Amino acid sequence: MSRKKVGVLISGRGSNMSALIEASKAPDYPAEIVGVLSNKAAAPGLLTAQEHGIATASLAQSKFFSREMFEDMITQILEGWEVDYVCLAGFMRILGEDFVLRWQGRMINIHPSLLPLYKGLDTHARVLAAGDAEHGCTVHFVTPGLDEGPAILQARVPVIPGDTPETLTARVLVEEHKIYPQALAMLARGEVSL
Ligand code: GRF
Repeated sequence: MSRKKVGVLISGRGSNMSALIEASKAPDYPAEIVGVLSNKAAAPGLLTAQEHGIATASLAQSKFFSREMFEDMITQILEGWEVDYVCLAGFMRILGEDFVLRWQGRMINIHPSLLPLYKGLDTHARVLAAGDAEHGCTVHFVTPGLDEGPAILQARVPVIPGDTPETLTARVLVEEHKIYPQALAMLARGEVSL
């Protein structure tokens, strides 16, 4: 089996990145994580990736004259790693249309809500404020509209009386770590396409 090569973009702790790395250790997993790029040099996920012997890069957008130049450099790095697919895993930058179209169909994201509900930030607090009975997470293809691409997998969790944003975040995160590796495997096996 030839495994597909995957680059992961992060900005922080990288727990979803870790879930992808762990899943890829199974001999029959159809993808391997070949590189992790962060827009923050201090992202803890970079160290985790290095501990697994995975190539890393960090790139601050502020060092570039324009977002386009920043994103062109990201593409160059990903191409240097010869990636087939890109996974956004807590990458806290909105990506421009040129970059998104360059990778469209080969780039996926994990979002902590049942899209199309609660696009954007602070999803857990917004779910609680709305009094919803359930919440969840979505792995979706990345398209130019923010959090708008078609879903590949979703997982649902109940909202329990007394929940805080922290308890709800933790409950959803458990599911994120399950569905992200599953969705990447489906993509790498050619079982889903945009
Ligand atoms: C996750 O909640 C993910 O859904 C969102 O950003 C967070 C990243 O967490 N896109 P981590 O860095 O993977 O731990």
